[in-house]
Amino acid sequence: MATAGAAIGLGNLWKFPYLMGRNGGASFLAVYLFFICILGVPVMMIEMSLGRKTRHDPVQAYGDIHPHARIVGVFGVAAAFLILSYYSVIGGWIMKYIASYATTFSAPEDFSAFISAPVEPVIWHFLFLLVTTIICYIGIGGIERVSKIMMPLLFVLLVVIIARGVTLPGAGEGLRFIFVPNGSAFNMTSVSAALGQVFYSLSLCMGITITYGSYLGDKENIPRSCVSVAGLDTIIALMAGTAIFPAVFSFGLEPGQGPGLIFGTLPRVFSSIAGGPVFALMFFALVFFAAVTSAIALLEVTVSFAVDSLKLGRKRGTVILGTLCFLVGVPSALSFGVLGDVTILNYSVFDFVGMITDNILLPLGGVTMCYYIGWKWNPQNLVEEVEKGGIPFKLAKLWIFCIRFLTPVLVLAVTFTGFYNIYTVVRG
Ligand code: TRP
Repeated sequence: MATAGAAIGLGNLWKFPYLMGRNGGASFLAVYLFFICILGVPVMMIEMSLGRKTRHDPVQAYGDIHPHARIVGVFGVAAAFLILSYYSVIGGWIMKYIASYATTFSAPEDFSAFISAPVEPVIWHFLFLLVTTIICYIGIGGIERVSKIMMPLLFVLLVVIIARGVTLPGAGEGLRFIFVPNGSAFNMTSVSAALGQVFYSLSLCMGITITYGSYLGDKENIPRSCVSVAGLDTIIALMAGTAIFPAVFSFGLEPGQGPGLIFGTLPRVFSSIAGGPVFALMFFALVFFAAVTSAIALLEVTVSFAVDSLKLGRKRGTVILGTLCFLVGVPSALSFGVLGDVTILNYSVFDFVGMITDNILLPLGGVTMCYYIGWKWNPQNLVEEVEKGGIPFKLAKLWIFCIRFLTPVLVLAVTFTGFYNIYTVVRG
């Protein structure tokens, strides 16, 4: 549940449904599922088994297999830290919306005025990180308990919202947008978008699954766990589309993605339906659960690094890293207002941090991971780890083939598209 909670996040709710709609519906889904099978699950299994075998944080874990490989873990921990710094800015907005619906029964009057204010977004960013830090501070038991409650609740809330959405007049249009296959909307960009989304959505190459794997019991069935996480992640992403787009189309609004969809478009839907504030509260609670369980995972990666590699105590490490992350996130929180004019290589501060993690750290982590695990070390070691609990693994040969050949090629493709994206932005 905790690993699923880490994977299921904003990416599932505000990115996947739109990607699917824009890239040919079921055609996109087919390619996405293909990549989940040949890339997502194998890479997740690498990380989970490596974590359990070494019982270390990502940096140490890679250090155990080759002294130079520590760099792979460093990429991962750095990515997790940076993602958390902006993820919690958005988490703060979600809390603001919950507070607003709970007290005034409506969304904050003006979304852009709210996010461009000089102080308020920073306070909410702080509060969100505070919640995350407290859960991590309590420890692994706390993370597990929170995930076991929040994930089923998220599922139930999603079902309620779907039931409301698909019964609105004109909802069929939205379902057609996301599901009906459309070959003409599908091209090479769609393929690379599917590939990138597999990495992002399953939280791969950021040390998450290594960290959580290092807490996993020896009897757990690793292939089965990874398939369940990938399956749940995909199901929730599909449900999110079914919950959101029928309602958006029913009111003749533009389908979109990202913050604009959640904080701009959807509140307009909620204000038009009967019982809107109640559904809005449920919806933002759901988004909050998804975001918090991902944020905990991100913080936990850096904390495990602090405990294992830096030898800080767990509690002290958690507080220090939570605080640091708050400070590093402040410019992102302000990048829609006070720091609105500041750009780095044509990116706003907020987007710059996202670009570094998604387009640079993640692919670098992926490529170096395949190199060290597949070629400088023997992947057979991981097969032994998977089979440790007396679990026969019939696809071991295929998995090793993936690790050595298929995955690196695909990861290089992600890397290449990432650099190309940066190039297009920097060129202006
Ligand atoms: N997978 C998360 C989502 O779908 C986002 C994410 C990317 C993430 N990398 C992560 C979450 C690492 C936790 C840890 O929104």
